[in-house]
Amino acid sequence: MEMTAPAARNAIDDNRQGLIGKPIDRVEGRLKVMGQAPYAHEVQEGGRAVYGFIVEATIAKGRIAAIDTMAAERQPGVLMVMTHKNAPKQGPWGPIDAKDRYGRASPQLGDDRVRYYGEAVAFVVAQSFEQARSASRLIAIRYEAEAGDYAMAPNLAKAITPEGKGDQKADSAVGNFEDSFGSSPVQIDSRYTTPMHIHAQMEPHATVAYWKNGRVHIHCASQLLKSAQQAVAATLQIAPDKVRIVSRYIGGGFGGKLPIYGDVMLSAMAARELDRPVKTALTRQQMFHFTTHRSETIQRVRLGATADGKLNAIGHETWSHSARFDNFFETASQQTRTLYAAPDRLTTHRSVALDLPIADSTRAPGEAVGMLALEQAMDELAVKLKLDPIELRIRNEPAMDPEKQIPYSSRQLIACMQEGAKRFGWAQRNAEPAKKIEGRWWVGMGMAAAIRSNLLQGSTCKVMLDKQGVLTVRMAMTDIGTGSYTVFTQIAAEMLGIPTERVRMELGDSDFPQTPGSGGSWGAASAGSGLFDACAQLREKLARKLGIEVVQATFAEGRISGNGRSDRIGALAGTLGLDATGEIKPGDMASKFSQQAYGAHFAEVAVDMDTGEVHLRRMLGVFAAGRILNEKTARSQAVGAMIWGVGSALFEEGVIDARYGSFANGDLANYHVPAHADIPAIEAVFLPEVDDKTNPLKIKGVGELGICGAGAAVANAVFNACGVRIREFPLTLDKVLAGLDGAMKA
Ligand code: MOS
Repeated sequence: MEMTAPAARNAIDDNRQGLIGKPIDRVEGRLKVMGQAPYAHEVQEGGRAVYGFIVEATIAKGRIAAIDTMAAERQPGVLMVMTHKNAPKQGPWGPIDAKDRYGRASPQLGDDRVRYYGEAVAFVVAQSFEQARSASRLIAIRYEAEAGDYAMAPNLAKAITPEGKGDQKADSAVGNFEDSFGSSPVQIDSRYTTPMHIHAQMEPHATVAYWKNGRVHIHCASQLLKSAQQAVAATLQIAPDKVRIVSRYIGGGFGGKLPIYGDVMLSAMAARELDRPVKTALTRQQMFHFTTHRSETIQRVRLGATADGKLNAIGHETWSHSARFDNFFETASQQTRTLYAAPDRLTTHRSVALDLPIADSTRAPGEAVGMLALEQAMDELAVKLKLDPIELRIRNEPAMDPEKQIPYSSRQLIACMQEGAKRFGWAQRNAEPAKKIEGRWWVGMGMAAAIRSNLLQGSTCKVMLDKQGVLTVRMAMTDIGTGSYTVFTQIAAEMLGIPTERVRMELGDSDFPQTPGSGGSWGAASAGSGLFDACAQLREKLARKLGIEVVQATFAEGRISGNGRSDRIGALAGTLGLDATGEIKPGDMASKFSQQAYGAHFAEVAVDMDTGEVHLRRMLGVFAAGRILNEKTARSQAVGAMIWGVGSALFEEGVIDARYGSFANGDLANYHVPAHADIPAIEAVFLPEVDDKTNPLKIKGVGELGICGAGAAVANAVFNACGVRIREFPLTLDKVLAGLDGAMKA
């Protein structure tokens, strides 16, 4: 089916069994706690594996002048040492303008160039991991290093306008921003910075690769199986159908597993040469350089308003970095194009090429950091206007999308803010900073809006019903920890009128029908709609077998009934079983309606008067994200994202050592993330919403919404607590103290 019109009423709306929305436990939860849901590295398949270890460059730019592998090769257990001198020929990098960014060729050890610190310069394969790692230390490399650029600020003059497409075009302008801003009686002109962020998934990247009959089977951690298949095919220069990618269980993605990395390519090449399975895992430290990160950003937000808080002008100009050989940019002002009304508007994206590892998508690319700036600027404007920040946002609620000039599919921003205010006790907040004191703590509250674009991608699915009435579902879809297995099981069971135990959900194999995978918060909507369509086809087939029209049919308790007839669906499937395939195509609903999920964040913090330490006390997110498929997995997505928002506000910061172009804090001891004690009380609530413009399930994506704006609510609470406005994230105590000193002197 294609989304060329709003979705009609259907079995998901009827929800006869009440499975849709139900907070059931993860269907694979038992396997996970029993150790029976293996991540890629734990898979044992294709024979006894040998172990690969990646040797990383210790310069950020230059070339390998000499490399001596003799000593390593003589070590016990060593089977192979691969370098640029003996690596198989591979496809050239890119192309950078590929339609599928994550399906590009990424040759390893292709030449003597080093493009970033931590790039692979050798690969050792041995009988054991320890042997491979130990031997790797004996490889002698002489580099010819060149000077590189590792910081954005000194290179802003060299920034370029990146090539953007569609909603992600680099610039947008409506009216005359400069004049309108310049003549506004109330103005905010603020500059914000956000540092690099690291995905730091629980499961580090790993690969098991083996060849059978000229086809490579690869178990790895991939959010996008189809792209991974393309990337391997393009790199190894073989046909895509000679590549099978399997990612059955994945321990977190966050965008870091949209691409695949050298562990996959090197394992696949070594497995071909050695004719046995090769297994390679990245160490936590290697993850920092060898995989992608979120770019740092510099952002200028200008808001021009009337004295009663109507925005005349919104300007949001942003800069992010990209690896020199790549074309990524962080779409940090994208949400500013749609969030608030204002007649005159300007948004820009500029990109600075640096000699750093590849910057790429990280949970809510664009919005996650863009909202840290925009939503603080809105708070600054509210302070200047002496207006409640919620009231300021209500006064600037657009009637339709202010840049696209099309209606919203649904938009409950105001409802989220008002419901949140009620639940959080916003009325108790003192608008005047530093007025609420408890012992040695200043206590304050802040809020921010949440917004995240909603997407639907083409997706396919196959369902197979057997004579026992058990439904097997197959999709080349992934569950990165979000709950895909569970929500798809609920959809299938609800559609066929069977208990969830009668559904066998088979995901994570590129041999299954294609889906767009997990990314951009589109997974549940896209793959779920393909599944919906497959189930709808199967319902029709069953109705025909029973001799009734599907509109007359009721599916319940494993039976189909209608028009005086009734039978077990398993009996109708018969000994041969009954199959159906389904497909969702996006259609034009996305160009006719502006589609976003919304929310509002509320945070209460305490700031230590002496040390400047910020403690989060409690936090609430109220979201409207279409129909909720499972209240438990959705809440867990929202809360997890909010915690990352707190991390980006208070702790997280990838620091580059300017001497070497490497991460100075490249492990989880030094890259700080929130711990349990940092997150005392956090809650997420979803408002009822059904959006028939989005997809037949009438859902929106929930994976990324929770991080958008979360950190800004914390920053705004810090200002309300102690009167210090910090525009350089994260809000560490040194910056709070400097702000307090400044306030004292003033
Ligand atoms: Mo997401 S950053 O598109 O996995």
